[in-house]
Amino acid sequence: MLMDNSNKEARVYIVGAGPGDPDLLTVKAMRLLKQADVVIYDRLVSEQIMNEVPKGSTRIFVGKETGKHHLTQDEINKLLVSLAMKGRCVVRLKGGDPFVFGRGSEEALYLVKNRIPFEIVPGITASSACTTYAGIPLTHRGLSNGVRFVTGHCRSDKPLDMDWEKLADPTMTLVVYMGLANLPEISKNLIKHGLPENTPAAGIENGTTPRQRKCISTLGQLQADLEQESFKAPVMVVIGQVVSLADSLDWFVVDSKNAKYQKNNFSKGA
Ligand SMILES: C[S@@+](CC[C@H](N)C(=O)[O-])C[C@H]1O[C@@H](n2cnc3c(N)ncnc32)[C@H](O)[C@@H]1O
Repeated sequence: MLMDNSNKEARVYIVGAGPGDPDLLTVKAMRLLKQADVVIYDRLVSEQIMNEVPKGSTRIFVGKETGKHHLTQDEINKLLVSLAMKGRCVVRLKGGDPFVFGRGSEEALYLVKNRIPFEIVPGITASSACTTYAGIPLTHRGLSNGVRFVTGHCRSDKPLDMDWEKLADPTMTLVVYMGLANLPEISKNLIKHGLPENTPAAGIENGTTPRQRKCISTLGQLQADLEQESFKAPVMVVIGQVVSLADSLDWFVVDSKNAKYQKNNFSKGA
């Protein structure tokens, strides 16, 4: 592998940052952040997590909001290779888990092609963390036999191509990443294929952060409720009977006045 004059080994760490709460970073992710020369990060990596990056490290923001990429995927791939070839310790920091709707595998394949050594550090994916912080278990005996993770957004904004019949399964929890923009179409198709309109459904905005908001509704009503509450991305959509537990398991309370969050404390009579 080609490198410049430094004797350092080229290596890229593709690291999952989790959904926002810095307490949800893995120990390995935190260790790598502290030793990185360069951190290349996306929009979904929270400010609190970026505060953990040492002052002397270079930070490169590469954006990645639907339709608004600061750098194209190809440019990001090339940047990773060129920095690694200079012998820099490169951390490619991505929201959630790099291998769940995160294009981490595309970046890793590019590194393979260019013979750059790499490691991948899993992160807590948003579907797991946001639902947990909203008091919604992904599975619950008697309510859900399993979970399906789907994306509500197609490449180049093409129409959704989903197996609606399979997805409209009342025994399963359906979690939709990037589902906000296409929620009308998603709800309409699920109902058309037999999922009852009154199936519990929720939207979780900025999950696990001090700005978390959740909206508990039904499949037929969720879109209108999210619109009414002006929910904006990032939003996780959850559909299924497990959502009915959200009020009973509501443990994470956001204190918006003080812009910080507290955990419920039963001993205080909460
Ligand atoms: C491109 S996907 C990236 C998913 C990421 N790799 C993961 O494992 O969580 C972005 C989508 O994840 C969801 N998401 C990520 N972080 C979130 C958060 N803190 N709150 C709510 N949804 C979130 C939203 O649906 C958002 O549109």
